Amino acid sequence: MVLATLVPCFAMARKRTKKTVSLITAASADRYELYEGSVYDPDADHDFLVKTFQARRKRRPLTLREDFAGTSKLSALWIQNHGKTKAWAVDLDSEPLRWGYERHLEPLGEVGKRVVQLQENVLEVQTPKVEIVTAFNFSYWIFEQRALMLTYFRQVCAALENDGMFVVDLMGGPDVQQACEESREEESGFTYTWEQETMDAITNHIDCHIHFEFEDGTKMMKAFTYNWRVWGLPELRDIMLEAGFQAVDTFWEGADKHGAGDGIFKKASSAENEATWIAYLVAWK
Ligand SMILES: C[S@@+](CC[C@H](N)C(=O)[O-])C[C@H]1O[C@@H](n2cnc3c(N)ncnc32)[C@H](O)[C@@H]1O
Repeated sequence: MVLATLVPCFAMARKRTKKTVSLITAASADRYELYEGSVYDPDADHDFLVKTFQARRKRRPLTLREDFAGTSKLSALWIQNHGKTKAWAVDLDSEPLRWGYERHLEPLGEVGKRVVQLQENVLEVQTPKVEIVTAFNFSYWIFEQRALMLTYFRQVCAALENDGMFVVDLMGGPDVQQACEESREEESGFTYTWEQETMDAITNHIDCHIHFEFEDGTKMMKAFTYNWRVWGLPELRDIMLEAGFQAVDTFWEGADKHGAGDGIFKKASSAENEATWIAYLVAWK
């Protein structure tokens, strides 16, 4: 696991590589460019999806529905990696969809047309049956009631081919249940801060924010805010099974010699409740 100083913050702070983002001040910066430059790099997710599906189903998956797609970056990667792939990218908000279209899809010309962006609610969207549905960066934690989570998982199960796979990521461990703030400087001239407010002990509700600060001292506070419930792994697995999935596998991250996360996720049925951890849950239809 990646153990940070003070109270570690995992959320939105992993699976990234250094990017060049040209910006100088809060006034000139583009918050999606900052987000993609500091938070989200879907390469690891992409490789995990292909490898995990192929290992069980003995074929290369071709169709993906990216729920909570934001800028649709995973979908863009999906269709570039194989000539017969298709993706549906679903998000409620037209702004990141449009940004992602202009940044990631339009430049690809004909290839980019293999991604269908849908500005819709994941609870209601209708798409052709796909082999894989994803809900990454903990976005599905927006559903704070069990009944709503069950409705969502049922919707996903119905949207999958008969041998389809649903993948979510999650974080946990005692440090995820308390307030934390963690910053790091990015090479391209800004500082990224993840702030998580204290978890409500009764509802498990948390409010989280991403802030950016620039070398000239200007700040973009609350560039992104997330209001979530912290869900436990066993309860999510139980809801997936109740929603109709046949089996749910947990993929746990290994550690390097310094105890930091090594980015390699392996199937596990038991694990130590480290201070902070992340995992994938893979539900099979
Ligand atoms: C944390 S962002 C995730 C973006 C992207 N998947 C990533 O990992 O970087 C969450 C996204 O979920 C979208 N969202 C929230 N509730 C939704 C819903 N019910 N249906 C579809 N999209 C939703 C928001 O508009 C936002 O773009």
